[in-house]
Amino acid sequence: MSALRLARAATGRDAVVKFAGCYHGHVDALLVRAGSGALTLGVPDSPGVPAALAKLTIVAEFNDIGDMRALLRSRGSEIAAVLVEPVVGNMGVVAPESGFLEALREETRRAGALLVFDEVMTGFRVARGGAQERYAVTPDLTCLGKVVGGGMPLAAFGGRRDLMQQMAPVGPVYQAGTLSGNPIAVTAGLATLRTLEALPDAYTRLEALGARAESGLRDALAATNTRGSVNRVGSMLTMFLGVERVRDFTTATTADTQAFARFFRGMLDEGVYLPPSQFEALFISLAHTEDDIDRLVASTRRVLAAGS
Ligand SMILES: Cc1ncc(COP(=O)(O)O)c(C=O)c1O
Repeated sequence: MSALRLARAATGRDAVVKFAGCYHGHVDALLVRAGSGALTLGVPDSPGVPAALAKLTIVAEFNDIGDMRALLRSRGSEIAAVLVEPVVGNMGVVAPESGFLEALREETRRAGALLVFDEVMTGFRVARGGAQERYAVTPDLTCLGKVVGGGMPLAAFGGRRDLMQQMAPVGPVYQAGTLSGNPIAVTAGLATLRTLEALPDAYTRLEALGARAESGLRDALAATNTRGSVNRVGSMLTMFLGVERVRDFTTATTADTQAFARFFRGMLDEGVYLPPSQFEALFISLAHTEDDIDRLVASTRRVLAAGS
């Protein structure tokens, strides 16, 4: 919300671009073709969002370089910012295809629009430096949440110094809140980040556990003759049922959500509690072991073999 306000203030423009299936929280302007809970509950365009506000949000298709380039070249001068989950987690996991984030960087710069990475999910997760480190693309602003708070309610945003200096109290763009900078949450967040820093192999381990889960789930699909696919980046992954390739919102929403519901309940009976939506990501954490992953895979095989 605040990054958006800053982008609009810094550019003097009102329109923003988001990608279908990306979720950026419950802020009105971004509850347009939103993923995550909104998509799961069937309200990606929530009632209560004024049409005048929704009109300022332009929706593009993730991973479609041609579409995004045409949009930014034709309407670039209206656009304050392009917001993106650099690895989408909210329509299930969808990785950026080769060149997509680079093209986005190039086109936003050319249009004078800010590139905002929503790294609420990916920050400190797909690499210590988030997706921007993993894909070597630097946005103008970055939003963080989740890991940054170590489980406590905390969010942060930051970016180019010249932009951040426009924030109050140094500059005129307002941002404040009762819980902003809450000392308990900040302390928990700092403790988590310091602990992570002291674990030199944390991300290698997450990658290895993620790869083990990915190959196990793929094998389970193949062994049970189940149509589906697995998308993974680091320790984030989603197994889609009923669709062989998911690369954007259009393909994600062809997944068989009824089959997923049966699968979810079967996994509960196995004692495995998955995220309760086809459009959420599984997160592997440093607390998980190889045995946990193998159990996930074995249960998946049994449930797919029995039910779908
Ligand atoms: C990528 C992303 N951005 C923003 C948010 C919103 O965070 P919050 O629910 O804390 O407002 C979420 C929440 O899941 C998210 O996944």
